[in-house]
Amino acid sequence: MHVELKNISVVFEKGTDVEKAALVDINLDFDTNETILLVGNTGSGKTTLIYLLDLLIKPTTGIMRYDGSDPFENPYKYRKKFGVSFQIPERQFFSETVEDEITFAAKNFNTPYDRHKIIELLSVVGLPESILKQSPFKLSGGEQRKVAIASILLHEPEFLIFDEPTAGLDLFGVLAVRDILEKFKKQGRGFLITTHEPELFTDLCERTIVLDNGRIMHQNLKLRVVR
Ligand SMILES: Nc1ncnc2c1ncn2[C@@H]1O[C@H](COP(=O)(O)OP(=O)(O)O)[C@@H](O)[C@H]1O
Ligand SMILES: [Mg+2]
Repeated sequence: MHVELKNISVVFEKGTDVEKAALVDINLDFDTNETILLVGNTGSGKTTLIYLLDLLIKPTTGIMRYDGSDPFENPYKYRKKFGVSFQIPERQFFSETVEDEITFAAKNFNTPYDRHKIIELLSVVGLPESILKQSPFKLSGGEQRKVAIASILLHEPEFLIFDEPTAGLDLFGVLAVRDILEKFKKQGRGFLITTHEPELFTDLCERTIVLDNGRIMHQNLKLRVVR
C-alpha cells in the first residue's frame, strides 16, 4: 500500500489565543513495506502525525491518499492494514480484562478468536498467560505497552506504527519490540516508529524522517550504525 500526504497542516484550537500549528505543510509518501524511523524533539509533531495516519484527527488543510483513494471515505478498510501502538497505551484501553482488550481489536477487524494465538503473542512480548484475567488499568506502564503491542499484532497488520514503543519497557521488552520489528521486516512488512532512543533502532530502519516544529526537515536520511 502506498500512503501519501500532500500539503498537510494540522492546527489545534484554530482561531483561539492558544492556536497551535502542530504540523505545517507536510509532504510525505511511503510504502507500507518501508522501515521508517521518525525523530524530532518533544512537541515537534510526531504523535500528531501518527494520529493523522490512524485517522484519529483530520488534516486542517491538505489531502491524504492511499493507493489513490481517500482513507476517510472507508476508514475501516484503511485502518485494518495498520497496527498502531500509542505513546500512552492506557488511553487506548477500555476493557475490564486484558483478554477482552486483546481480542477487541481483532474482533473489530473480523479476526477469529484464537486462544493459542493470543498466548503465543503474550509470550512474544514476554507476558504470562495469567495476565489475561487482570485489569489492563492496574498494570505497570511497561506491561500496558506489551498488552497494547500484543493486541495490535492479532489482526496481522501489514504496517506497524509504534509511538515511543520503548518508553517504560524493561530490557526484555525492548528486545521483544526489536524482534517484532525484525520479523516484520523479514516478512516484507514495514513499520514507522518514533523514539527518543534512535540508536536502538537505526540498524532496522532504512529511512529516517526528521520533524522540527511541525515541519519535515529531512525525509530520507540514511542513518548508519556506528559500532
Ligand atoms: N489536542 C491538542 N490540542 C492542542 N494542542 C495540541 C494537541 N495535541 C498536540 N498539541 C500540540 O501540538 C504540538 C505537537 O505535539 P505532539 O504531536 O504530541 O508532539 P511530539 O509527539 O513530537 O512530542 C505540541 O506543541 C502540542 O502541545
Ligand atoms: Mg509524542
